[in-house]
Amino acid sequence: MADHIRFTLNDGPVELSPSEHWGVSPMTTLLDWLRERRGLSGTKEGCAEGDCGACTVVLEQADGGRRPVNACIALLGQIDGLSVRTVEGLRGPEGSPHAVQVAMAEADATQCGFCTPGFVMSAYAFAAGGEKADLETIHDALAGNLCRCTGYRPIVEAMTKAAGLPVEPVPLAPKRTGPAVFDGAFFAPRSLAELLKLRAAHPDALLLAGATDLGLLASRSRKPPAAVIHVAHVPDLTAIMQDKARITIGAAATYADAMPTLITAYPALKTYLARLGSRQIRSLGTIGGNIGTASPIGDMPPVLLALEASLKLVSVRGARDLPLEEFFLGYRKTALAPDEVIQSISMPKLWPGEFFFCDKVSKRRDQDISTVAAGYRLRIKSGRIEDVRIGFGGMAATPKRARHVEAALLKEGFTAAMAAVPKDFQPIDDWRGSAAYRLQVAANLLRRLELRLAEPRRAVEVEAL
Ligand SMILES: Cc1cc2nc3c(=O)[nH]c(=O)nc-3n(C[C@H](O)[C@H](O)[C@H](O)COP(=O)(O)OP(=O)(O)OC[C@H]3O[C@@H](n4cnc5c(N)ncnc54)[C@H](O)[C@@H]3O)c2cc1C
Ligand code: FES
Ligand code: FES
Repeated sequence: MADHIRFTLNDGPVELSPSEHWGVSPMTTLLDWLRERRGLSGTKEGCAEGDCGACTVVLEQADGGRRPVNACIALLGQIDGLSVRTVEGLRGPEGSPHAVQVAMAEADATQCGFCTPGFVMSAYAFAAGGEKADLETIHDALAGNLCRCTGYRPIVEAMTKAAGLPVEPVPLAPKRTGPAVFDGAFFAPRSLAELLKLRAAHPDALLLAGATDLGLLASRSRKPPAAVIHVAHVPDLTAIMQDKARITIGAAATYADAMPTLITAYPALKTYLARLGSRQIRSLGTIGGNIGTASPIGDMPPVLLALEASLKLVSVRGARDLPLEEFFLGYRKTALAPDEVIQSISMPKLWPGEFFFCDKVSKRRDQDISTVAAGYRLRIKSGRIEDVRIGFGGMAATPKRARHVEAALLKEGFTAAMAAVPKDFQPIDDWRGSAAYRLQVAANLLRRLELRLAEPRRAVEVEAL
């Protein structure tokens, strides 16, 4: 018998046997289901690709965490076991509006009505999350919501007022202990052994982690995958571990979960990761998914190449470690065997005398894919660079280490390193940037790195505020 998808919606239980409901499957987007099946049309569809935030709903967690997500690219099967709140589920005492809605109204922050519910939900996740009401945090909380009309000032004002709401307890969905299969096509294993058996038995099924890439097949392309294996509930893939020397991040750990550990170890990632998608994307998106797409412009591979990351790849045949550098074979082509899964990503911490920096250049500061991204790890002794590793994205068919640049930098310095960029990279022209632009940007980033080292107080970051 098929398993039912169970979750909590606005404090009430939901149980779905998808095949019994015409037109609904585990690959249906949460947004379509909310609007078309539940009549909850407060959650809007703007872009249908995770960009505008009009479809923002909030996942409520046992620890009091409130995470905004884009309902337009989340699949129903993925929501099993979670607790979802939509704008209709926000309530104040005795049926009055919720404190966040009151703050939005009082600050004249309700605007076109299409984006406002999404803004309200992002504001609710922020306010009920007990975060500080500083401008940087508020801007971060709003980066995934687009307003094209009046502007953000009153919304920021409302969020400042609403900050620090007490976290109310919510009924959570019952926790599933065993594996689930929805409609014979959405496999949700609970252990590594189950995952690997499924992977071997269904080589054509797509691995699904946060669906912030794959969800677009269902939303924008309207061609949802025929079968998926959802890796997000496998503890070996979500664990985040560290010892004195290394950090190991499970491939299915979300950015939101991994960020505190990563930023503590490599502080330069704070600004960089804040610009990877939005909070909505980072609530569900994973590093394993970022590597799994093998995109030449994914943000994590360049920094992970610089950090000398290696992958643990697992299958029913066993486990192997592979340096990330050997994983990318060509455009969207990887060394992952059909029966393999990325279990984790591991990298050394910085030793005394080691420095790490990273840069992302994109058309828009927030919520944009890179044109060029770079990570640099250097070992410096007595003012001399003794070792360097540099990874670039957006410069070739795959994310790639800049070996000629590294050698020139060690031997002759930054000017020679800048001149060596074309030896490592022959980028292509596309709508994000021409080949000449990319080469120039990469060289300029090396100059910026030089300034960072020579004049640490000189401002080299473009700030949002
Ligand atoms: C609005 C928006 C903004 C975005 N902004 C950025 C950005 O700024 N920078 C950026 O780099 N990306 C960005 N992305 C892309 C995406 O969010 C990231 O690539 C994210 O890391 C994907 O992770 P996921 O878990 O959602 O992957 P999924 O969509 O679940 O999967 C992506 C791919 O990885 C494979 N995969 C997943 N897990 C594994 C595993 N354990 N082993 C092997 N293969 C696996 C899947 O089969 C699939 O091919 C954005 C996406 C959207 C929609
Ligand atoms: S509809 Fe635009 S982010 Fe979902
Ligand atoms: S609130 Fe919708 S465009 Fe500004």
